[in-house]
Amino acid sequence: MGKGRTRIGKVLFTKDQIEARLDELAREIQKRYADRELTVVAVLKGSLFFTADLVRRLEIPVRVDILEVASYFDGTVPAGDAVLSTYLASDVRGRHVLVVDDILDTGATLAGVLELVRREEPESLATCVFLRKKRKRKIDVPVEFCGFEVKAREFVVGYGLDYAQRYRNLPYLAVLEQARTRVARDGKKKKGARTKRTKSRRSTRKRSRSSSRKK
Ligand code: XMP
Repeated sequence: MGKGRTRIGKVLFTKDQIEARLDELAREIQKRYADRELTVVAVLKGSLFFTADLVRRLEIPVRVDILEVASYFDGTVPAGDAVLSTYLASDVRGRHVLVVDDILDTGATLAGVLELVRREEPESLATCVFLRKKRKRKIDVPVEFCGFEVKAREFVVGYGLDYAQRYRNLPYLAVLEQARTRVARDGKKKKGARTKRTKSRRSTRKRSRSSSRKK
């Protein structure tokens, strides 16, 4: 998708559907970490709301840490390697760590994050993603907990996921679409530019008016 105007397309998962899935995910996580303290590492900014909603459903002792990663900058095509802008503030050595990310696409981001966390020698390391794109991944990353699957060709926004830092606040998940803009012959966008169809309809009306006057 180019860098033109965008609009929200089809809603894939509503607020209610997301909340119901979060309840299930929390139950799955709790079962796995019963009687243990869990350290959740949120990969920001995309997993901000997902992590916040998920950890508040957990009825086990939880510590929370963050990592900030940027990979798309202001577009919908990956800008190259993920850039890690902050590092874990707390010590995860010997702890049970669950890395929470917004979406698994090529696998590069999560693989990079896992490598970094692994260096800190946690007792155990697992991953939880809100979304997983159905595609062949560049890097195979193990995912223990997954919210939903989405089509590879769709760029999705909402519930923490953004396009140029926008749409994160939508309470639902939707497909991002290119807004239709009317473009004139010279390629410049023209406000109210007439389409071929309206032009020809107008000239037909004009012609018939002048021919009836002639009669
Ligand atoms: P990789 O390819 O490294 O990508 O697995 C993971 C990161 O890419 C971003 N991403 C998206 N962000 N809508 C978004 O808003 C999407 O459809 C999308 N696909 C990938 C995201 O930041 C994720 O952490």
